[in-house]
Amino acid sequence: VPVSNIRNFSIIAHIDHGKSTLADRLLQTTGTVSNREMKEQFLDNMELERERGITIKLQAARMNYRGEDGQDYVLNLIDTPGHVDFSYEVSRSLAACEGALLVVDASQGVEAQTLANVYLALEHNLEIIPVLNKIDLPGAEPDRVKGEIEEIIGLDCSSAILASAKEGIGISEILESIVHLVPPPRDTVQEPLRALIFDSYYDSYRGVIVYFRVMDGTLKKGDRIRLMASRKEYQIDELGVLSPNQIQVDELHAGEVGYLSAAIKAVADARVGDTITLATAPAKEPLPGYTEAKPMVFCGLFPTDADEFEDLREALEKLRLNDAALQYEPETSSAMGFGFRCGFLGLLHMEIVQERLEREYDLDLITTAPSVIYKVRLLDGSEVYIDNPSHLPDPQKREAIEEPYVQVDMITPEEFVGPLMELSQSRRGVFKDMKYLTQGRTTLTYELPLAEVVTDFFDQMKSRSRGYASMEYHLIGYRENPLVKLDILINGDPVDPLATIVHRDKAYYVGKALVEKLKELIPRHQFKIPLQAAIGSRVVASEHIPALRKDVLAKCYGGDISRKKKLLQKQAKGKKRLKAIGTVDVPQEAFMAVLKLQ
Ligand code: GTP
Repeated sequence: VPVSNIRNFSIIAHIDHGKSTLADRLLQTTGTVSNREMKEQFLDNMELERERGITIKLQAARMNYRGEDGQDYVLNLIDTPGHVDFSYEVSRSLAACEGALLVVDASQGVEAQTLANVYLALEHNLEIIPVLNKIDLPGAEPDRVKGEIEEIIGLDCSSAILASAKEGIGISEILESIVHLVPPPRDTVQEPLRALIFDSYYDSYRGVIVYFRVMDGTLKKGDRIRLMASRKEYQIDELGVLSPNQIQVDELHAGEVGYLSAAIKAVADARVGDTITLATAPAKEPLPGYTEAKPMVFCGLFPTDADEFEDLREALEKLRLNDAALQYEPETSSAMGFGFRCGFLGLLHMEIVQERLEREYDLDLITTAPSVIYKVRLLDGSEVYIDNPSHLPDPQKREAIEEPYVQVDMITPEEFVGPLMELSQSRRGVFKDMKYLTQGRTTLTYELPLAEVVTDFFDQMKSRSRGYASMEYHLIGYRENPLVKLDILINGDPVDPLATIVHRDKAYYVGKALVEKLKELIPRHQFKIPLQAAIGSRVVASEHIPALRKDVLAKCYGGDISRKKKLLQKQAKGKKRLKAIGTVDVPQEAFMAVLKLQ
């Protein structure tokens, strides 16, 4: 088809508003996937991915569609990841489109993620088509929600489409709107090749499979390509389109979407956002907007068993093939031995990596509490960035510590405004803005230290709003605060992975709560264990774990001792998640205690 009959679009929606269901429906209606395949193939895939705890991804699909005007169109649906941690990926996917369907659940309304994604779409000048989904539900209030979209986003909703992805209502209207409202790509086939990478994954047979949109020029099978940011060159082995299964083609032109493989060894060599050009006739400038996704949250990963260090290294190496944003480097801790300091885009990313390491590589790991990157200005005029509280330079050398701040936008029913303000205030939040939307819904904006958000802020927001509030955050820069390092001593020795950086005014409270929590979490031993929280040499709180009493011991080990021992050994083979620090066995939960102080 000519470029004028191509439409590239994505679907933006808050989680659970029906994006996947609508995508499935579009694939079915255009005959891209038959009803039978739909069930067998797509649902199966989903289950597998759910099981493995990975975000469900459609990536991209090419649909052939005959319009009501009798013309044949190619509609490329480009998927966007749903979570804030991956907002950079969202932005690159949107950059590959000319339009977006904005799907809003007509029984709910605009949520924080809807909003964040709409702003990204507007930044890329996309044509936005509002779709009110789930109108089959008795609680659907399309008029109220239209009003909300107009009010909050300023988008004209007079011709918004009323749809039910579940019941198949409004689907042909959506397809026609894509054809009529989304502009076709610019015809730049004559220009030097530039293709935008919007996704990639690692395939153990073919190497990295890259998903891209050709912005200018033409790409052919066998071409020698150059990645403009990584400056690496490869020869294309396989070129194709996604319909949505991979189908090989010989060439792709400006405006088209496809995939390629070229014996690329790791996704980090073909990063999302990078520009593909021809090695023989390169473009002068890459496509705008490339930045490397930078980790914001760091934690230590240690094998409970020192012998598993090499296994952990191998597992991280393998994971990294498929995850360009994962960073790691070896770390030695006096308390924990050898492990790795790992960097993640956000908390969800961190959880996915941990989960995969344990499940897919069968490792028994201790993870330490997440930390952000602090900027420390030293008296000698230099600056250092630290991602590990135990590396904080001495107070005598420091001039000031700065910490990253984020703007948090929450959308909530009015009745929870109070509890959410309280929560934000208790996390050192600075109030910025509050707006009443339609019918008792409110947006609330705070500036907060990222360190306070990466703990349990999201969970607290959910529980204080009974699940009704949603949030989004983005980095706004560094700010100086009177921060101090709080050390935890077990049995008189500082345990570096338990060190945290806290606000001076909260240090006493956090120290006290932390030792109390540790007292609960660390099991009794045969000796008394003193626990202390200290700033420098000043102890701010102390507790102790009493020794097991003799008769308790007797009971515990009474009877058939050899049987008990066998039982214990058996248990030890399962995941023990205990780390011996000196003579004290410390369980995984203790390393996360700082997240659970409320
Ligand atoms: P994530 O993939 O988790 O981000 O969610 P999503 O936005 O893709 O939503 P999904 O398509 O998984 O739909 C969420 C839930 O809403 C599912 O239980 C769907 O069956 C249901 N759903 C989707 N569309 C409709 C609709 O039009 N009507 C009704 N009643 N339910 C729907």
